[in-house]
Amino acid sequence: MANNENSRRMNDILKQFRPDHREDLIPCMQAVQDREGYISDDSMAAIGAHFGIPAIKVYGLATFYDYFTFAPVSGDVVRICNGTSCHMMGAGKLISEAEKIKQTGAGKGRSRFTLKICECQGACSAGPVMDVNGKSYIRVKPEEVRSITEKSLGREKGGEG
Ligand code: FES
Repeated sequence: MANNENSRRMNDILKQFRPDHREDLIPCMQAVQDREGYISDDSMAAIGAHFGIPAIKVYGLATFYDYFTFAPVSGDVVRICNGTSCHMMGAGKLISEAEKIKQTGAGKGRSRFTLKICECQGACSAGPVMDVNGKSYIRVKPEEVRSITEKSLGREKGGEG
């Protein structure tokens, strides 16, 4: 039963992408991850079959991007881009600040979150870029990391933020 539901959800995603448009491979993987939270082995096989390429190639491409995960990530995820442009614009200070928040707690918001350091998110001119559970923030200053994290994590679950 659950497998039928999974197949139906996967087919709903795949039918948005034409099999002969391989440039849609990454957007397709993003759609799967956004919907499922990660890209499973079964999803990679289905994506590969849809585009006519081996699942191992789908996996190889996906591993190139830190955005993709291959196992369920529980809880909240804070991503900070450390691509070249964001790095040059001070992403390292954002990362340090986020690591500090993980260690000391996030005030009224929740302090338990997964911190992921990502490569380019495609918004280089507006860096440094971070996102909390998929919501992006641009031109982030180190002193804003705590308030963004606290507000985002607090609000999303109806906390006081
Ligand atoms: S390097 Fe961060 S968005 Fe491009």
